[in-house]
Amino acid sequence: MAKEPEIFRVAILTVSDKGSRGERVDEAGPAIGVIAQAQGWEIIAMEVVPDELDRISEALRKLSDEKHADLIFTTGGTGMSPRDLTPEATRAVIDREAPGFAEAMRAASFRITPHAVLSRAVSGLRGCTLIVNLPGSPRAVRENLEVILPAIPHGLEKLRGSNRDCAT
Ligand code: MTE
Repeated sequence: MAKEPEIFRVAILTVSDKGSRGERVDEAGPAIGVIAQAQGWEIIAMEVVPDELDRISEALRKLSDEKHADLIFTTGGTGMSPRDLTPEATRAVIDREAPGFAEAMRAASFRITPHAVLSRAVSGLRGCTLIVNLPGSPRAVRENLEVILPAIPHGLEKLRGSNRDCAT
């Protein structure tokens, strides 16, 4: 009999100064939500924080340690402008790198736009949680997620298997 697909707990963190002030409607966060739900996954949180290193790191810690997300997708703040700090905030909280997700997204996106090289996105593990940075635009979110979705269930199953504390 085929194995039942796992229902992973997904948290979405939009990193945007304007979004956090209510000056821009967040479209990227909900776009991730639609795709994650189509996988049969559960959205346990959808939050918006400004482009501030401490606020981003604090949200990532809370979503992984207290909300027990299996997966956190951030969107925005991965580019080159001075307030793009999502990669630094992510590095500050991960305990192991999982660079393949970010590498694959950059490589596939480069076939779509040369601007893909501007993404400094990071992917890694904090305890039982996989954290993946995505770019800020809804279109870029869809293009990038499409690349990594097929590898996520196997990765998360391995992550749980390697750490008995992660078992549900
Ligand atoms: N990747 C895909 N697939 N499609 C895109 O449109 N935009 C790029 C890049 N990756 C893009 C993409 C651009 S223009 C930038 S600046 C970086 O992602 C970082 O985006 P961010 O600063 O919104 O996080």
